[in-house]
Amino acid sequence: MKLTDAQKAKVEDLLSRMTLEEKIGQMNLESPSIVGGFDVPFEELIEMMTDGRISKDEFENIMSSATRDFHEDDIRAGRVGSMMIDDPKKNNELQKIALEESRLEIPLIIGFDVIHGFRSVYPIAIAEAGAFDRDLFEKTAHMAAVEARAHGINWTFAPMIDIARDSRWGRVSEGPGEDPYLASCFARAKIRGLQNDTESPENYVAACLKHYVAYGACESGRDYNTTSMSVSQLHNVYLPTFKAAVEEGAATAMASFNDLNGVPCTVNPYTLRTVLKDLYGLPGFVVSDANGIKECVTHGIAEDDADAGRQAVNAGLDMDMGTHIYKDHLTELVESGKVTMDVIDDAVRRILSTKMWLGLFDNPYVTEETMKQYEGANLPEGHAELTLEAAEKSIVLLKNENQILPLKRSQKINVVGALAENAKEVCGAWSMNWNEENCVSILDGLKKEVEDVTYYPCCGPEGEMNEEELAKAASDCDVVVAVVGELVSMSGEASSKANIELPGMQKEMLKKLIASGKPVVTVLMNGRPLALGWEAENLPVIVESWHLGIKMGTAVAAVLLGDISPSGKLASSFPSVSGQCPIYYNHPKTGRPGSKSKFTSRYLDAPFEALYPFGYGLSYTTFTYDNLKVREAEEELTVTVDVRNAGAVAGTETVQLYMQDVTASLVRPVKELKDFTKLDLDVGETKTATLTLKKKDMGFYDNDGKYLLEDGLFRIYVGGNSRDCLCEEAGVTF
Ligand code: GLC
Repeated sequence: MKLTDAQKAKVEDLLSRMTLEEKIGQMNLESPSIVGGFDVPFEELIEMMTDGRISKDEFENIMSSATRDFHEDDIRAGRVGSMMIDDPKKNNELQKIALEESRLEIPLIIGFDVIHGFRSVYPIAIAEAGAFDRDLFEKTAHMAAVEARAHGINWTFAPMIDIARDSRWGRVSEGPGEDPYLASCFARAKIRGLQNDTESPENYVAACLKHYVAYGACESGRDYNTTSMSVSQLHNVYLPTFKAAVEEGAATAMASFNDLNGVPCTVNPYTLRTVLKDLYGLPGFVVSDANGIKECVTHGIAEDDADAGRQAVNAGLDMDMGTHIYKDHLTELVESGKVTMDVIDDAVRRILSTKMWLGLFDNPYVTEETMKQYEGANLPEGHAELTLEAAEKSIVLLKNENQILPLKRSQKINVVGALAENAKEVCGAWSMNWNEENCVSILDGLKKEVEDVTYYPCCGPEGEMNEEELAKAASDCDVVVAVVGELVSMSGEASSKANIELPGMQKEMLKKLIASGKPVVTVLMNGRPLALGWEAENLPVIVESWHLGIKMGTAVAAVLLGDISPSGKLASSFPSVSGQCPIYYNHPKTGRPGSKSKFTSRYLDAPFEALYPFGYGLSYTTFTYDNLKVREAEEELTVTVDVRNAGAVAGTETVQLYMQDVTASLVRPVKELKDFTKLDLDVGETKTATLTLKKKDMGFYDNDGKYLLEDGLFRIYVGGNSRDCLCEEAGVTF
């Protein structure tokens, strides 16, 4: 986010002419308030939907008829700096008011949750990260930026880059998994894709790193719960993605709901000012999460709204999302000396600079021609194809016994499971702008390619199982494709689960299918890693297809029919049972590493290792690794390994490089991912993969937040997942 000297001068000139009220107005983010159309307060309506007094559809019908306040008068008076709206015509209207009717003609920055696509929805992050494809991450983000701008949105509340190690937390679906290195590559690529194409204002938006910070470490995997950790853990595990994204130029960030070591991140001067702004150098501003400032009273860190507002702005929180606390209390706080004008000016300078960098002062409007590209089910050229590429690369083959896959087009296929036909379920959490006409269900995808496909709903993630239908489904066919998993509503925000096994009667359905003796291909549609102990033991084939976006059905059919060989890997470990959570590969060794012996770090009633580890994923072919070499140079280790396609079809392998710092002044993980590369290999082909480990990246932070590089023995691991690797030792000096 670089400004020209002229742009900087304009920001300073504006700042010098602004009244205190106008400055505070820039720090106020509004969303279209629901002001009527029903006879209960909006909060009560939410409760009624949550406790089932009204259905989700009834709620949405009421909402669609509700009247909204778009705060036109406040915009005119300079009391609003930002709005959250996804309608291009409304955004043009409000920008016109801001630019032509307010005293200083300052445009609005329009934010929205464009997390994994806007109209052309691609896989949820936990899936896309498993593609291990930096270019793909960047291309999909760029597409999302173009589509957001085309709707008047110039600021997206993305990328979500929270490390998550506990899949009971529903928001594991929204982020890039458990590993800081892969997640940092994902974060960097997303910033490049969202922000770097500044040639035309139509092609870039301001990113917003969230949720800052350590939100994914919520105790017991329960959303919004407390987080506590050492300074070293914070810097080694939860901060790296944010550090990487700011290095890549990220403009803004969003403070997270959770308290961290006793201080809510909304009012945390250490994380906001000391680390994010002073140490990392965030160039833009920090916004609260929805209602975050008000919740600091509930946290018990602030006596009242005014006190929460004082603590937040002094801690470095520049913009208030949705509570009006800044709008209602900052004037008095400044006049009483509890907040200095320097603090206000710093916040407003950051906000104005971001708007200036976005080119909003010159032209924030969406043209009719641009809007036409999205009329009905229209999408710009190439967008649907990119969502399909991302979907195909994100599918993970977990098991394929007796080579049941790939299927043949000549086979008679019975498809079971309510999720199979539900095109509304393919896009996953935080996707709200797709057109259902563009969404391909798994059933649609298979029917398009295979002549003899019969569908039997039988059972879904909720409700009963239709045994009669199931009996039919398990007869008179060559193979059963069972589509099971979670509803989109079962992952994402406020969707933590204590039991992460397949919900409802789906497992019972699978047991009956297996008992029928028919070959069963199980396809998972889910937003989090699931506890699959029984499934791994009893099902011959398991395909993890997550929520892949609008072209999900096409991608799944291509993999099931062998048109493409699956290449996706897991960005997050899968447990056998829920009680193993949190579970992750990059854990310390402990003094008694888990083993069969009693007095070791293990369970009496469950495995201690992950069922499917980070980085795991099969192909329709097999790969062998040989000839691992490690060469040490001044600044880096160069690692080479020969990888051979030893199977009968072409395939793509993600070669992963891990390291272990064997002895250090703090215990270190048994493995840490440090590089990866993908190889396309024909049958019988061997290629040499070259991976790099920069010495400066081999260190860690201690409990003073100091980065240490310590000479000593390192183990270098290379393989196709975090468990099955070749290993070489290297004595390294820094
Ligand atoms: C939500 C989410 C955050 C989102 C924001 C605006 O509560 O925590 O991820 O960006 O509100 O919708």
